[in-house]
Amino acid sequence: MWKFCSRTAGGMAKTCGLVRPCHLVKPVSATRVAGRYLSHQRGLPCLPLPPLQQTCERYITALEPIVEADELMHTKELLEDFTKTGGLGERLQEGLEKRAQRTENWLSEWWVRVAYLEYRMPVVVHSSPGLVLPRMDFRDKQGQISFAAKLIAGVLDFKTMIDNETLPVEFLGGKPLCMNQYYEVLSSCRIPGVKKDSVVNHAKSSSPPKHISVVHNFQFFQLDVYHHDGTPLTADQLCVQLEKICSASSESDAEPVGILTTQHRDRWGKAYLRLISDKTNRESVVAVQRSIFTLCLDGATSQCSDDVYRSSAAVQMLHGGGSGGNSGNRWFDKTLQFIVGEDGTCGANYEHAPAEGPPIVALIDHVVEYTRKSEAIQAVVVPLPEPQKLQFNITAEMKEDIEEAKVSMNMLAQDLDMKVMMFGHFGKNVPKAHRMSPDAFIQMALQLAYYRMYRRCCATYESASLRMYRLGRTDTIRSASTASTSFVKAFDDPSKQNPEKMDLLEKAVKAHRSYTNMAISGQAIDRHLLGLKMQALEEKLSVPAIFTDAAYAKALHYQLSTSQVPSKTDCVMCFGPVVSNGYGVCYNPMNDHINFAVSSFNACTETDAGRLAQAVEDALLDMRTLLDQTPRAKL
Ligand code: COA
Repeated sequence: MWKFCSRTAGGMAKTCGLVRPCHLVKPVSATRVAGRYLSHQRGLPCLPLPPLQQTCERYITALEPIVEADELMHTKELLEDFTKTGGLGERLQEGLEKRAQRTENWLSEWWVRVAYLEYRMPVVVHSSPGLVLPRMDFRDKQGQISFAAKLIAGVLDFKTMIDNETLPVEFLGGKPLCMNQYYEVLSSCRIPGVKKDSVVNHAKSSSPPKHISVVHNFQFFQLDVYHHDGTPLTADQLCVQLEKICSASSESDAEPVGILTTQHRDRWGKAYLRLISDKTNRESVVAVQRSIFTLCLDGATSQCSDDVYRSSAAVQMLHGGGSGGNSGNRWFDKTLQFIVGEDGTCGANYEHAPAEGPPIVALIDHVVEYTRKSEAIQAVVVPLPEPQKLQFNITAEMKEDIEEAKVSMNMLAQDLDMKVMMFGHFGKNVPKAHRMSPDAFIQMALQLAYYRMYRRCCATYESASLRMYRLGRTDTIRSASTASTSFVKAFDDPSKQNPEKMDLLEKAVKAHRSYTNMAISGQAIDRHLLGLKMQALEEKLSVPAIFTDAAYAKALHYQLSTSQVPSKTDCVMCFGPVVSNGYGVCYNPMNDHINFAVSSFNACTETDAGRLAQAVEDALLDMRTLLDQTPRAKL
């Protein structure tokens, strides 16, 4: 039966040629066999196109806290010209309206192209998030293998729901959500190009893959996870197979081919062509790309205190620690990689083009719960085929590519500063008890923390789900508002009394929640502005002046790039900053605590992940003190 659950997208949470690319190029639903998935998808509304005037007015409001008065004046003049009757804005808006009529979603394909496939920085740190799970209770190879076997079985269990289209539909604010992303994360992979990448999804091929890829000691294997009759291998059987893989790759002297996937995309695009010019290499690469997902079996990392454990585990999930660590024990183009270390470290890394965090986290919640179930039933002993080792012929030129990739990866690893903080004093419970949106409360704490460190507000990005609409991805909640600026400026001002601060906090939280509502209902400004720019490019017009304006550059320079990714499991997602002098902040608000992952670049002397994390903790505590000390009028 097509089940429904009341989990919100928030309540469950920024990219071979064998098979056609996924919906990014051709909408999935156009080719999927009619079923429950398709009828659900057809019932979803199309992404609305906001009115031009509304977006321009809201854009000015959004600029107020982050640009100077003269810049704002200049932008207003540019916008007046852009929106005048018969002007360029009207023409582009008409073009967008036509696009909206002929496509399932006027934005998604452009968004995936611009945000991911044409983005040329390495996917590692700059695009692909990591996810850190709580440390598991094994500390040796055998424990690692038997846990990994259960994990594979758990993913296959989830895959059955995808294959049978029995995944519970998710809801946000009472509205059903687009479920397409669930169909994009397994059996899928990003393919590097010289100027632009692509994504292939083999799940929809005439013979969908029945294997996963496993990497151990930098060596890749193809492991069939289904019997001939279509039933999945049991955890016990998977355990036997993983043991074979580990003993066939006990030496760690193999060339770390996987590290190539950490490179700048143009360089990797060129190296990729060299790599696959060899038939054996091509077959090995295709086996990884086609696989349902990749399992990375890592060695133990160096011992550290509990305090720093989660931060170092986050580094393993985000980039693997460099060439001397596990960065070569990955295939970062793979949409989904599970990572299991010998020391109980566990988590995942996912390539962002096909999906946002929430579907990944829902899958991981399911897997974690599955691994916690009582011991697997002993399976009948049957002969199982040997896992196939994927061979690579490495020429001198390819070796140079690998060495270059090692150098760049090590620089990136050294540059990234990551701090995972478990804020244990309270969680969603406190803001809820004060009738405030927990997400807005946390965002205001981030604004206060940043203001206290820099005495100014910065352009802030928070992801908002557009999944109420068919093939919807995200828009931007701009957390720095006029209301948040008034609140942060007043908070430490000794001339202000608590009731006034409280009033400003309430207004800031309400303003944030109202921006959130606007964003999730397709009425925010950022994707519309992008659409207008893309439409100009599509019509081969010169880029409108509003997009070459200094204020626009400031608006897109997100020194705080943030995202809420909630889950049932006590975990946290992590990602890198999106600008050199910025922070990446991901958080998971649980009922009575909040997990934060804060990142920054060491090369920037102004930023410090640990300091921001501390400032966030202080801000949250000080805001609660304000709530406790200031009685509020009853509603
Ligand atoms: N009083 C009491 N409770 C309130 C409240 C109020 N004024 N406002 C909200 N709440 C409750 C909600 O009912 C909800 O309850 P629940 O825990 O029982 O579900 C809870 O507080 C959380 O609500 P809130 O904090 O407002 O956030 P949200 O869950 O609506 O999420 C976003 C907000 C922006 C994170 C969400 O809309 C979204 O878009 N998520 C997807 C983001 C994404 O894709 N991230 C990944 C990028 S890789």
